[in-house]
Amino acid sequence: MERYTIDERKFLEQSDVFIDLALQEFGFQSLNDLPLAAQRRHPSPLPAIPLERSSRLSREERRKLADAFWGPEGVAHFIDLSPPERPYDRHPIFLLAEQLSDDLPLRFPIQHPLEAHMESVRRFGPSDGTRKIYDLPIDDVAARYREQNETSEQFSSHNDGLGYGGCIEAFMLYAESCPLWGGYTYFQNTLRVALQLAIEDPAMFRSMFLPDAITVTRPRGKGAIRVKSPILFLGEFGQPQVFFRVSSGEYVVETRDDPLVLRGYQYLAEHCMPFAPSSTFINFSRRGFGCIVRNNVINHGRTRFMDDPDHGFVRVLSRKWFVSHEKHTEYKHVPGMFVLKKYAAIFPEQFGENVLSGEWHWNAENGCNKKIR
Ligand SMILES: [Fe+2]
Repeated sequence: MERYTIDERKFLEQSDVFIDLALQEFGFQSLNDLPLAAQRRHPSPLPAIPLERSSRLSREERRKLADAFWGPEGVAHFIDLSPPERPYDRHPIFLLAEQLSDDLPLRFPIQHPLEAHMESVRRFGPSDGTRKIYDLPIDDVAARYREQNETSEQFSSHNDGLGYGGCIEAFMLYAESCPLWGGYTYFQNTLRVALQLAIEDPAMFRSMFLPDAITVTRPRGKGAIRVKSPILFLGEFGQPQVFFRVSSGEYVVETRDDPLVLRGYQYLAEHCMPFAPSSTFINFSRRGFGCIVRNNVINHGRTRFMDDPDHGFVRVLSRKWFVSHEKHTEYKHVPGMFVLKKYAAIFPEQFGENVLSGEWHWNAENGCNKKIR
């Protein structure tokens, strides 16, 4: 018996184009070229690109950053050798983004509602336009939602921007201060892992394109949302894209009720563990360490860390998200996903305009997303 409906089969047709485009990215002619060239048994530390001065990049520095970002690891790891004085006139993230915007998708930074968060202002002064990421202990965990990036616990692998419809094309992190121990940021090029899966089990690979392959829920708090999506798909501009997450903290990740999808999910999840084969990692060990990440194909996570404020060790990162198009700079919090129109039209209730704009909120009690603005 046919496993999928007619509409699902039509939707799955994008998987062939996805393979061709992904192969092109890595410079391979066919899947047969991939295995030996791409697989590594071990993780590797990402080489850093030292920058003399973040406010004035040399042509060579710009080229190195672009090569690393568009290269096989999808991450440019830099070290700002002379971080500017604080408070910043302008945060180094913006200085870098402006100088790199011809070569990298850093033209459209977006404002995050938590940038001017009361607690953040109390600790770090008036907003500098970036989101601060640090361990924020709270007394009554049961009473208030605790976002996983506000803890010192492990934050398992994910793409940033749940509720943003897959529009966060890139993000930048910049270390303001560092922990006593731990806090490795690790990466996996899930596009490359997907191609490996296509070789090892074509049916399993194809099932990752099902419209309901994965469902991710952030169950509580202001950002409560449930997003149902393919794990692999062609994004709105026809680019191969990944939406993948491993459960962590309060995030709930479910797969379609189909053993094939579950096994495919597990295959990807194994490759997205900290220090997995072929993964890369960074240890932000000094102020001025940073990275620029291709969020729509690269998965990242962070291992547990330990602060020691009495001795001056506190992990604080500044973060900025960059969207793929000017039209996405307007704030949204949505259950839908921006998928190439041709395929989006097959399941408008999941990928149509209505579920791609405004502000939605997941209500756990009645089990649905509701548009509130
Ligand atoms: Fe993240």
